[in-house]
Amino acid sequence: MSVSRRALLVTAAGAAAVGPVTEASAAPAAAGRAPASAAGQVGTGATLRTLSEAAEYAVAKVRAVAPRVTGFPVGTKFEKWTYSRGGDWVGGFWPGTLWMAYLYSGDDTFRARAVESARNLAPRQTDTTTHDLGFLFYPSWVTAWRLTGDDEWRTGAIRAADSLIRRYNPRGGFIRAWGALNDTANAGRIIIDTMMNLDLLAFASRQTGDARYLDIAVAHAKTAQRVFPRPDGSTPHVFDFDPDTGAPLGPATVQGYDASSCWSRGQAWGIYGFTTMYRRTGDTGFRDTARRLADYAIGALTPDHVPVWDYRAPQQPYDIKDASAGAIMACGLLDLHAATGRRAFRDVALRILTALAETCLTRGSARAEAVVARCTRNRPGEDGIEISLPYADYYLLEGILRVLRPADVDRAVDLSQPS
Ligand code: GLY
Repeated sequence: MSVSRRALLVTAAGAAAVGPVTEASAAPAAAGRAPASAAGQVGTGATLRTLSEAAEYAVAKVRAVAPRVTGFPVGTKFEKWTYSRGGDWVGGFWPGTLWMAYLYSGDDTFRARAVESARNLAPRQTDTTTHDLGFLFYPSWVTAWRLTGDDEWRTGAIRAADSLIRRYNPRGGFIRAWGALNDTANAGRIIIDTMMNLDLLAFASRQTGDARYLDIAVAHAKTAQRVFPRPDGSTPHVFDFDPDTGAPLGPATVQGYDASSCWSRGQAWGIYGFTTMYRRTGDTGFRDTARRLADYAIGALTPDHVPVWDYRAPQQPYDIKDASAGAIMACGLLDLHAATGRRAFRDVALRILTALAETCLTRGSARAEAVVARCTRNRPGEDGIEISLPYADYYLLEGILRVLRPADVDRAVDLSQPS
């Protein structure tokens, strides 16, 4: 994309704060054609109908597939789910998807399945080998507690938060992403994804009255805010520190193209995560960071509104897609609209969700077990290129429900704004 086009989009999005968003201001205008409804008016009856139909499809698919789900879906192979017994980093998303299906349909079968699936994550409460505890326990156990009131979920989620804070490095002010605590490899490595794990700590502080959890979340978020965003609002996937001194070493990547690129799912985690941290703390600096990341990602979107896997991949804008990045980004933008009042964020979120509904669902395949296709797990690793991923299904449903049933999403994950 040319610099002038990106500048135009950012300027136009800013202008939208004081006036209605026009098609030109919110829809990327590079070469290629956007689906008709994605490029046209948003928030209309047609958009809402498209999203309702996508939700109906998703819920019907989950209902049909759930009886034969034998573990935690991690991704598809030949359109069928493959599973992890222990949950890998994604174990929160299947129970989370079941909770969303329950909220949308009111069908108690989904609720029973969500409870059963979430219970299987219990051994992970004490897992100190990964930062993924928020991904694992928020959409599953925190939501379970919020929807059922059963205390086992609340105490389990707090136990998971206890495991997560053990990964905090006070010298660098960060939560290490990967590796066991006694493993020196990766000890100074942080990743943008961790922004999504911090809400578990905010939850634990609210529930216990112990500020320590939120303090660590804020310290990590401030470090991330300092080292990840580049001047143009893009982010690398990874940043390394000297784990002994806490001195910054520099950016890197694992799932993006290279250290100077912008992995689209990581950028989406950042938009969502910084907005959440604003809501939990009232620190407007986090909201500003989320805006910068969002402006960059909006400017980098292709006209079809389905993110390429890395906004700076060599073949972009014609590179392979990651629909999961779109679903996560849409949720983050809806949240950011609520936090800023900037209409353009909601308009782009609706365009993304519409595009996912129109061009990425598995509707055409009787074999498919997932809802969303065209997701990419790890392009540099040649692992899972344009497959289905459980977080795409989860965030597609969360995003559509944020539009159609915001009160239900609030009941599940707590969308409250700072007081
Ligand atoms: N958090 C890992 C990923 O997004 O692939």
